[in-house]
Amino acid sequence: MDRPSDAPRPAARREDIPGWFFRLDQEAFRHLLTTQSTAGTTGDVLELGSYLGRSAVLLGDHLRPGERLTVCDLFDSAAGDDDNAAEMTMSYRASLTRSGFEANYLAFHPELPTIVQAPTSVLADGRIPAGSCRFVHIDASHLYEHVAGDIEVARRALTEDGLVVLDDYRSEHTPGVSAAVWQAVFTGGLRPVLLTPMKFYGTWGDPEPVRRELLARDWRAEGFTVDEDTIAGRRVLRLNNAVPSAAPRSGPRQLLLDLLPPVATRAVRRALGTLRAVRG
Ligand SMILES: C[S@@+](CC[C@H](N)C(=O)[O-])C[C@H]1O[C@@H](n2cnc3c(N)ncnc32)[C@H](O)[C@@H]1O
Repeated sequence: MDRPSDAPRPAARREDIPGWFFRLDQEAFRHLLTTQSTAGTTGDVLELGSYLGRSAVLLGDHLRPGERLTVCDLFDSAAGDDDNAAEMTMSYRASLTRSGFEANYLAFHPELPTIVQAPTSVLADGRIPAGSCRFVHIDASHLYEHVAGDIEVARRALTEDGLVVLDDYRSEHTPGVSAAVWQAVFTGGLRPVLLTPMKFYGTWGDPEPVRRELLARDWRAEGFTVDEDTIAGRRVLRLNNAVPSAAPRSGPRQLLLDLLPPVATRAVRRALGTLRAVRG
């Protein structure tokens, strides 16, 4: 059937769908969702904030028979409060339509997911059955009150060892997400599993099996860095893109770095990095 002339043109390739979902987190999503499927973990998938479908299309790739993807987004609808309305105007209104999302999704999947076109706060009414989801991606409003509510929706929706992913938990312009995330960790039992520059991955279940599965992959061979940190006694992984190695160092600078103890070396490296960033 021909596309009506005013219908949105779907993206030709997944990477052409506009959005904020990049290779590192795409790989982490794929890894975690595939690991769940391989282990026989079943459950629905929920996304809060889908924009034009960049992350939703990938989530749809991982649905197994009987599993459902639900996406919740305002799309062309009005926000429920002034701050959220301002956020929508600043970041999404000019480019976002529900038909744009649908065209992109249908370019890669035969059927649309279940779409809730509304503020994510409506999901608190229990329409997502408790304990029904294995994976929840929270990427809607980045305002504290909204994210705190979204985390509560995820907690209720997830299976015991289900995973929640939160976008923009450390960006300078989204302090409300940071506040909601760390509040959930320190007062709500959320356990961090993996941190990337863009996203926080956690569970209210046991994080150890997920950590082990992540460590079983040779991320370094694929151009990523893997580090381990401890937060309040709990281990957490960090994944990042490896920075291409710098030009060979001059003799005296290399000698200094070689002679210093590791802690001092790290401090020197940080200072040199800051200096380079300041100089541009
Ligand atoms: C950062 S974008 C999502 C990006 C998408 N996950 C991706 O990776 O490309 C945020 C989305 O959240 C939606 N949104 C903002 N506030 C919302 C709210 N209160 N309820 C539902 N959706 C909201 C916006 O319409 C926008 O599409």
